[in-house]
Amino acid sequence: MLNPDIYNNRRQRLIKLMGKGVAILKGAPEQIRTNDTEYPYRQDSDFYYLTGYTEPGAACIIDPNNQEHPFTLFVLPQDPKKEVWTGWRLSFAETVEKFGASQAQDIAEFEAAALTAMKTSSRVYTNLNHDKAHQYKMLDQVGQIRKEVQRAGGGPEGLESIGAITHGMRLIKDKVEIELMQKAADISASAHCKAMQTCSPGMYEYQLQAVLESHFVHEGGAGPAYTSIVGAGDNATVLHYVKNRDKIVDGDLILIDAAAEYEMYASDITRTFPANGKFSEAQRAIYEVVLKAQKAVIAAAKPGVSFQDLHDLDLRLLVEGMLEIGLLKGSADEVIKNETYQDYFMHKTGHWLGLDVHDMGNYMADGDSITLKPGMVFTVEPGIYVNSKSKAPARFRGIGIRIEDDIFITKNGNKNLTAAVPKEISEIESLMKSK
Ligand code: GLY
Ligand code: MN
Ligand code: MN
Repeated sequence: MLNPDIYNNRRQRLIKLMGKGVAILKGAPEQIRTNDTEYPYRQDSDFYYLTGYTEPGAACIIDPNNQEHPFTLFVLPQDPKKEVWTGWRLSFAETVEKFGASQAQDIAEFEAAALTAMKTSSRVYTNLNHDKAHQYKMLDQVGQIRKEVQRAGGGPEGLESIGAITHGMRLIKDKVEIELMQKAADISASAHCKAMQTCSPGMYEYQLQAVLESHFVHEGGAGPAYTSIVGAGDNATVLHYVKNRDKIVDGDLILIDAAAEYEMYASDITRTFPANGKFSEAQRAIYEVVLKAQKAVIAAAKPGVSFQDLHDLDLRLLVEGMLEIGLLKGSADEVIKNETYQDYFMHKTGHWLGLDVHDMGNYMADGDSITLKPGMVFTVEPGIYVNSKSKAPARFRGIGIRIEDDIFITKNGNKNLTAAVPKEISEIESLMKSK
């Protein structure tokens, strides 16, 4: 957890933007993996952003209309029999102290307290994501209050996503957030270097996955920020290939899209390299097209440029490159207009990055693409995917290439947080030789 003042400042900004609204948030529910064992617990990102609280079983009310208790945390109460299994829980007094809450209460009190807080609010903001039971409860409670408006005189006009406020806030990272993201990026970058140095034909994809993920944890990360992709040969052309079970064959290209989460912040890196340490002619031809587009987009990323401008630049360079090497036919304008490039490039150039790997925040505002501002962090990840069933020239089939870096927009340009992993062909080949 960061300094409690950081979360308090965020809550004060939230309160300013909510007016007389109230934020009533539930922590992420635990998720069962098999029978009675759960997936490792990961707090809801908006809940964490506003509270710093990472334990399961929590909720909170941030209520500017309550002078005495503007911030109440609801937590699992102390219970020695349960704590023997899952670890010590803070007392309510300790919770208040540690998280800067005005009070802490038993989670069993949450729903009644939520109903009371709603009654004096103009609007209810809550997390509308994966906890359906919580969403229905909130909707039901707002509905109950609306039925009593004639007698009570007022009540919340509606239920809205907390994201309507927090997702805009989360788009701009502060100095501490960038430090954590840089650390996540550094851990991931060194893991990619290790994987390149470890790789040799005959290994299995999961063995490279093990190298990466063991390094994430060894360096203090929480583990992977998303399910690791290690695809060799034709598997590299499957965008979300996560089985990672196949044998790596001499001549394959390997696409690794894997990165660590550190102190709740994600990184996101993709590199593609030859299993035997040397790019073939066909692999090199496609790789150079992707690399040229990726470097040009990064060079263009600065305040005032729109997200769509970056995608348009990326697309044009990929299309021109694919025409040059004979992967596509026609003119660049035709290919872009008819979208025939979609056979080989079918995703966007990047996405916001932060607490979530696909971080919250809009890409459009009032019909226009969002313009980059200092503090934004996003990925730049062009790719070309020619699967083995494609009608492309035979020498290109079975080649999938993506190159992905994490870009932080500064006052005058940007900083590549993941520049520590090589991506030039000569750099990759020499790193792979230095086993
Ligand atoms: N690793 C997920 C993505 O690149 O979007
Ligand atoms: Mn990505
Ligand atoms: Mn990725």
